Amino acid sequence: MSYGARIAGLGSYVPETVVTNHDLAQVMDTSHEWIVERSGIEERRWVKGGEQGNYDLAVPAAREAIAEAGLEPEDIGCIIYATLSPDHYFPGSGVFLGRELGIIGVPAYDIRQQCSGFVYGLEMAQALIANGQYEHILLVGSETHSPGLDKSTRGRTISVLFGDGAGAAVLSRTQADAPNRILASEVHADGGGAEDLWMPYPSFRQPEIMTHADLDAGRQYPTMEGQKVFKNAVKRMPEVVRSVLESQQLGLEDLDMLIPHQANLRINEMVAKLLRLPPEKVHNNIQKYGNTTAATIPLCLKEARDLGRVGPGDLVCCVAFGAGFTWGAVLLRL
Ligand code: UT7
Repeated sequence: MSYGARIAGLGSYVPETVVTNHDLAQVMDTSHEWIVERSGIEERRWVKGGEQGNYDLAVPAAREAIAEAGLEPEDIGCIIYATLSPDHYFPGSGVFLGRELGIIGVPAYDIRQQCSGFVYGLEMAQALIANGQYEHILLVGSETHSPGLDKSTRGRTISVLFGDGAGAAVLSRTQADAPNRILASEVHADGGGAEDLWMPYPSFRQPEIMTHADLDAGRQYPTMEGQKVFKNAVKRMPEVVRSVLESQQLGLEDLDMLIPHQANLRINEMVAKLLRLPPEKVHNNIQKYGNTTAATIPLCLKEARDLGRVGPGDLVCCVAFGAGFTWGAVLLRL
C-alpha cells in the first residue's frame, strides 16, 4: 500500500530582536547600502545571546503547525529536525523538541544539509509517509546563526547575511493519487564544493577538536567563497526546478509560485529571469529575515500563504541551494 503526503499545517517563529543594517554598521566596517545592493537584505532577527536556543525557536513553530493541522502533539509519529546550528554538538535538537512537546518515545531524525535541509526533509517525510511508516510527521527547520557569527569586520562578508528563525510543517498521509500532495522531489549533493561554504572547526579530524590557537584564528566561524557559491546556485536552482516539473509532465507555465531559498535577492532575481518567471510568481522575504538556512523555505512558504499569494490547489515549487554543496526541489499542490 502506498500513500501520498500533503502539508496539513505550517508554523513559524522569529525572535523579537530586529537587527538592521545600520545596527551592524555600528560594530563592523559595512553599510546599509552595501548590504542592500549585494544581497537585498534590510534587516534580520537575532536571538538575544544566551536567552533563546535553537529548539526554543522550533517549539512555537511546531506547536502552530500541529494546531493548524488540527492535531495534538501526541498524533505526531516522527520528528525530522533540519539545522546547521544545533543547541549542542550532540544530542541533536530533535530530542529536545520532542521532550518540550511531551512526545516521549517518538523518533527524532536530525538532518544537516544546511540551506537545503528543509527540502531534504520534505523528501524524507514524503517517503516515510508513502511507505506507510508514519501518518503524521513534524518537519522543522530552525536556526540560531547569530551566536556563531564573527561580528567584527573580519567576518562581515558572512555575518551580514544570516538571520535566526524557525519554520515547521506537519506532513500528513493522504491518498496516493490525491490532487493535493507532494508530487515530486529531487535532491543532490556535490562535495566538490564542501570547503567553499563551511565551518571548519570544531573538527574531529584534528588531534584536539579545538585549541586556543584555533579560537584566536577565528576557525570556529563560517567562511564562504561567495562568488563561487553564487555561480553554482544560479546554475543548479533553475536546473532542478525544470527537472521536477518535467518529471510530472508539467511546465513552468503551470507553476503558480516558486518558493526559493533566500540566500541573496540577486540570486533569486537571476533564477526567476532564467526561468522566465514574472515577479508575481516568486515569493521573497530575505529583505526582512536574511538567510535563515533550514528555516527559510517554511518561513517563506507560510508567509506567501498567509499573504494570500498562494492557496489551496496552487502548484508550488520549493527550491534550495547551499553548503555541501547540496540542492534540491520539491513540487507540491497545496
Ligand atoms: O546560504 C547558502 C548559499 N549562499 C549563497 O548563495 C551566497 C552566495 N554569494 C553571495 O551572495 C555574494 O557573493 C555575497 C553577498 C556573499 C558577496 O557579494 P559579492 O558581490 O560577491 O562581493 P565580494 O565578496 O566580491 O566583495 C566585494 C567587496 C570586497 O572588497 P574589495 O576586495 O572589492 O575591496 C569585500 O571586501 O566588498 C567587500 N565586502 C564588504 N563591504 C562592506 C565584503 N563584505 C562586505 C560588507 N560590507 N559586509
